[in-house]
Amino acid sequence: MTRLLITGVSGLLGINLALEAVQNGYDVVGWTNSRTLKNTPFQQATVALENLETLPAALQNARPDAVIHCAAIANLDVAEQNPQLADLVNAQAPGVLAQTAKTMGIPFVQISTDAVFDGSKGNYSEDDTPNPRNTYAQSKLAGEESVRQAYPDSLIARVVFYGWSLNGKRSLAEFFFNNLSQGKPVNGFKDSIFSPLYVRDLADLLLEAMSKRLTGTYHFFSKESLSKYDFGVALARRFELDENLIEAMQTSQGNLLTKRSLNLSINTAKLQNALGHDLPGIAEGVERLFDDYQKGLRQQLAAFLA
Ligand SMILES: NC(=O)c1ccc[n+]([C@@H]2O[C@H](COP(=O)([O-])OP(=O)(O)OC[C@H]3O[C@@H](n4cnc5c(N)ncnc54)[C@H](OP(=O)(O)O)[C@@H]3O)[C@@H](O)[C@H]2O)c1
Repeated sequence: MTRLLITGVSGLLGINLALEAVQNGYDVVGWTNSRTLKNTPFQQATVALENLETLPAALQNARPDAVIHCAAIANLDVAEQNPQLADLVNAQAPGVLAQTAKTMGIPFVQISTDAVFDGSKGNYSEDDTPNPRNTYAQSKLAGEESVRQAYPDSLIARVVFYGWSLNGKRSLAEFFFNNLSQGKPVNGFKDSIFSPLYVRDLADLLLEAMSKRLTGTYHFFSKESLSKYDFGVALARRFELDENLIEAMQTSQGNLLTKRSLNLSINTAKLQNALGHDLPGIAEGVERLFDDYQKGLRQQLAAFLA
């Protein structure tokens, strides 16, 4: 049985990846920071990534056969306001973990972001030059670089995703679902384009890529792109909520603290070729989100925090 360390297991990606990995027969150990989860079907440890000097021993003590490093300061505004912490956690810690994984001779997957691109052209492939627009994106790009240097045979997975989270508020899907199901109007940006995967589809792809020993940089995104407004509408239609509550607007009209990249449509040909199959489209992802909603995933996740 493969023992898989998932950092950031209390995050949106980490918890869904951990549940998917357990279902697929992995022995999972998860790291958290400020939150402790209850009654999870995997072991946990608390590790603060900013304490760089503690990380090699923490990783060795976990005795994993592979690592998927999900933990990060993933809130753009928090990173913008705490650049030194963002540098330690998002840029330096991944390098220390990757170096330790290399010494241990185990695969290492670094989770990165579409936000490394400036969003001026869209259809970004792995060959395009990053140009981050905010502190979060700069620190994540620096994290990619520190991993590449420490352990060139790592897999760097750039991602964007939505899904059900522990506190029910982490993802864009939950933002639309929570507001629309309470009859509250929301803004939907027409000029902010992305290529999001449903987080459980992303989890499956990461496990597949890891088992196929992919190394280098890959784009893990939906094969389709759309605006955040259109995403809200797609979700409203599938959940039979009122799409007229979504007001179309431009990001310049919104009240956003941190600068964002606009056209983050992504080219996924490299990953599709490497895996030998198509990646999920938007409707497929929203369907699985709906299916997991009906199966009670939200309640299952909330119980881990109760
Ligand atoms: N959400 C997206 O659509 C998106 C898009 C592009 C890339 N990403 C990347 O995907 C990964 C997962 O994102 P997410 O949305 O799942 O994040 P999230 O829900 O905000 O969770 C962040 C996780 O990182 C942990 N963490 C934060 N600061 C830490 C620290 N100082 N030391 C140790 N652990 C720390 C948190 O632990 P506690 O909660 O226990 O404090 C939590 O488990 C990140 O690398 C992020 O950059 C996310």
